[in-house]
Amino acid sequence: MKTGRGITTLSGSTAVEASSKDRLATQLRGASIPDRELLDNLGLYLTRQSLSRINFMQKIYEMIVPVHGIVMEFGVRWGQNLALFSVLRGIHEPFNYNRRIVGFDTFAGFPAVTAEDGAAVAAGDYAVSPGWRKELESILAFHEQNAPIAHKKKFELVEGDASVTLPAFLKAHPETVIALAYFDFDLYKPTHDCLEAILPYVTKGTVLAFDELNCPEFPGETQALREVLGLSRYAIRRDPSNPLVSYVVLD
Ligand SMILES: C[S@@+](CC[C@H](N)C(=O)[O-])C[C@H]1O[C@@H](n2cnc3c(N)ncnc32)[C@H](O)[C@@H]1O
Repeated sequence: MKTGRGITTLSGSTAVEASSKDRLATQLRGASIPDRELLDNLGLYLTRQSLSRINFMQKIYEMIVPVHGIVMEFGVRWGQNLALFSVLRGIHEPFNYNRRIVGFDTFAGFPAVTAEDGAAVAAGDYAVSPGWRKELESILAFHEQNAPIAHKKKFELVEGDASVTLPAFLKAHPETVIALAYFDFDLYKPTHDCLEAILPYVTKGTVLAFDELNCPEFPGETQALREVLGLSRYAIRRDPSNPLVSYVVLD
């Protein structure tokens, strides 16, 4: 368990790795690089792990370019993936204003955990700082303004327990086709509920990506997939540079 600023998360790092990452983070906060140049030099602070995650997002985004529909992320937290998907849209399909990006989160951490989630997690884990949702809205607005067709809003943050908010969203948007669903709740119940709820809205070529399959610390995500789709119906592919993330392509 790692607790920082009152926020609890699970960490696989050793104490030495964690403190050397803390040192780099402190350097980033205090960097003497002028603001004008800071964003252009963020590669200075990217770790191998962060870069391999970004590469994975790039890989799955490229897979959905020919697939019609929107992107959904289940479990947004600070929102890095939503920002990456927005930037990747600007790179790979700048005029596809139909590719909306929708993120679901409580923005208050896990609303509840169940027996299927094991003993390592608790309600309230993976919270964010108070007011983060508003900060994230403004970061996502920046990325939208930094790409073509900026006058059309193409992202939405849906706050609350996704087991409740996703059915409401789908009811309000009967036009929905889903090209990519990224599952990162870490938990059994919302993963089960949301997987089941999106099935009528997917198509051939839809990518379902998962952050914690086959992960002993978060057994609930795999159980949810096993119960809703089964593990043998689709090939569960992995990214060679990342031990955790995986995806299936629906056919
Ligand atoms: C591991 S974090 C997501 C990390 C994020 N995808 C990333 O790559 O940085 C898990 C998130 O799932 C959210 N979450 C878990 N259960 C939820 C539920 N039932 N409804 C909405 N959000 C939930 C938590 O609030 C937390 O922000």
